[in-house]
Amino acid sequence: MSWYPLALPSHSGRRYLVTGANSGLGFFTAARLAVAGAHVVLSGRSPERLDAAVAAIRGARPAASVEALVMDQSSLDAVDAGADRLLAGPPLDGIVANAGMVHTPTTRLESIDGNELVLATNVLGHFALFERMLPHLADGARIVSLGSFTPGTRFSDALQAAWAQGKHRGAEIPLFALTAAGVEGGDFWGPKYLVRGGPTRQRPTDVSLDPTIGSRVWAFAEQATGRSFTVRG
Ligand SMILES: NC(=O)c1ccc[n+]([C@@H]2O[C@H](COP(=O)([O-])OP(=O)(O)OC[C@H]3O[C@@H](n4cnc5c(N)ncnc54)[C@H](OP(=O)(O)O)[C@@H]3O)[C@@H](O)[C@H]2O)c1
Repeated sequence: MSWYPLALPSHSGRRYLVTGANSGLGFFTAARLAVAGAHVVLSGRSPERLDAAVAAIRGARPAASVEALVMDQSSLDAVDAGADRLLAGPPLDGIVANAGMVHTPTTRLESIDGNELVLATNVLGHFALFERMLPHLADGARIVSLGSFTPGTRFSDALQAAWAQGKHRGAEIPLFALTAAGVEGGDFWGPKYLVRGGPTRQRPTDVSLDPTIGSRVWAFAEQATGRSFTVRG
């Protein structure tokens, strides 16, 4: 029996943010939540691409409760401005930290803040966003951060692109992590067969699990963003 699509009960009354939601996994995650009745804030850096994504969701479900938030995840000022807007609304039941540069540049590029651009987009912008939004999460809220099993080489990325399941199916993994019963904080969920299949609890890479590396990355993120906060482990 196919695992797809996952059963998703009504999410009416819930409110989610999906970053980088104008395309790819983020778009399909946002669309599934909105069709299930949640209010979904789709963030991205392009107003035009966000408008097209919002229109596509409304095309599938005219009553969908969706809004666009222009927020360049690589810019700390833009993240601050986005957080201000989110803080003016009701608490969030979840954040899907999805925005990311998948095809990494071959030369070093820097964000407007002078941080390496891929790190700024995929990691530092979300770190700064969490620092602002953690006090504004509803009871039982979840944060789902998108990651990868593989080292980010262009070769492995190309292999992944060739073999990975379509993004409408791939989005079921973050959707599951965000909504399913039995998911615990700190879990790492991925497709059953590395790049395809239904959601399965996976073992993160050794580097991801290393507490010494984790402390160094956290300290670096605090220094690079100028934001400091702690979470219970
Ligand atoms: N696809 C996979 O097999 C796979 C595997 C493991 C992990 N992931 C992770 O899953 C996430 C989504 O991947 P995907 O395959 O769906 O990628 P994608 O199709 O390239 O979508 C990435 C999204 O992030 C947005 N984005 C990029 N830079 C941004 C910025 N500075 N500010 C705001 N939004 C920005 C993009 O918007 P624009 O249209 O403006 O560029 C786009 O909406 C990424 O974090 C990726 O690392 C993907």
